[in-house]
Amino acid sequence: MKHQTEQLYLYPVWIRIWHMTNALLCLLLIITGLSIQFSNPQTVVKFNAAVSIHNIAGIFLTINYGLFFLGNLFTPNGAYYVIPVKGFFDRLMKQFKYYTIGIFKKEDAPFPVNEESKFNPLQQVTYVVLMYGFVPFVIISGWGLLYPEMTVYSIFNISGLDLTDLLHITAGFGISIIMFVHVYFCTIGKTPTSNFKSMINGYHESH
Ligand code: HEM
Repeated sequence: MKHQTEQLYLYPVWIRIWHMTNALLCLLLIITGLSIQFSNPQTVVKFNAAVSIHNIAGIFLTINYGLFFLGNLFTPNGAYYVIPVKGFFDRLMKQFKYYTIGIFKKEDAPFPVNEESKFNPLQQVTYVVLMYGFVPFVIISGWGLLYPEMTVYSIFNISGLDLTDLLHITAGFGISIIMFVHVYFCTIGKTPTSNFKSMINGYHESH
């Protein structure tokens, strides 16, 4: 039977602008962040330049996050980020089984994309943890490092600044890992490039 391609408009223009800016800034922050962390005279981006670019990109990331936060607060897109508590683990396990077994047996996805739910349960949890956990955390700790006088002097005998630094690096590392996994999972669509096209033209392609 020939499948008919269905087009759903799921990515409004503000989400696409936010996402493109966010992805580029995150890449820049990862490259400069690593250059600061593993600084030596041969590093691709020199230490002083890396610090300046990292700080400026961080400020833009904060402003851009404001767009995401307000957009989700005041438009229907925010509803996709509300996780229904009932049956939460069952739904997660169903999706997990699909990704580990079902997909290789060419089974149908247990949570097909539609206007009511554009994310599957695993995707939804990842995006919520990423966008309401890791990203605000990396932003707040980053501002703490930019204005060290704002951080607490010491907690349990550990310097507040060292702790903020450690938490910032851990969150940044977490976002980097999630980003790789995210891009890999985005290749699982109608075709390997379908989801990337969606983030450009706004339309999700499904059978
Ligand atoms: C080169 C880097 C990236 C690429 C190629 C990419 C690609 C994509 C694609 C194709 C989608 C649409 C498919 C889907 O709904 O899953 C998407 C959605 C999304 N991405 Fe990314 N992404 C990148 C980086 C990031 C980063 C760094 C973050 C967050 C820190 C992020 C957060 C999100 C979120 C929250 C959505 C869902 C947006 C919505 O519809 O409400 N992405 N991404």
